[in-house]
Amino acid sequence: MKVTVNRKAHFNAAHRLYNPAWNDEQNFTVFGKCSNPHYHGHNYELIVSVAGEVDPETGFVMNLDLLRKIIEEEIEDYLDHKNLNIEVEEFKNLNPTAENIVVLIWNKIRNKLASNLDLKVTLYETPRNFVEYSGQ
Ligand code: NI
Repeated sequence: MKVTVNRKAHFNAAHRLYNPAWNDEQNFTVFGKCSNPHYHGHNYELIVSVAGEVDPETGFVMNLDLLRKIIEEEIEDYLDHKNLNIEVEEFKNLNPTAENIVVLIWNKIRNKLASNLDLKVTLYETPRNFVEYSGQ
């Protein structure tokens, strides 16, 4: 029997979506306003979902205060109020789309979780656009 526990988090960040091999017009056609050379910001909302057996000794899947700390140290401290293209190493040569950001977040949290726990990350770039990654 597996139960999923969830923790919500939030960060603000700026980015620009573009392919450096294309000219401005091609970039605008594909990425629209997100290709603005002067960058723009998003209020990212995050849901971190951890599934596992309920520990009979604690009644927990995992301690949610520990999960809160992992998210704070690994994600919020790393991404909040950053220009993703310029300040985040992984995006120096990788487009900081919601897809690529959610994979980065998943990898960083996965490294801090016990191996018997399953992880899924949901990232909202806007209230209506969101992506999910579970490590597949
Ligand atoms: Ni954008």
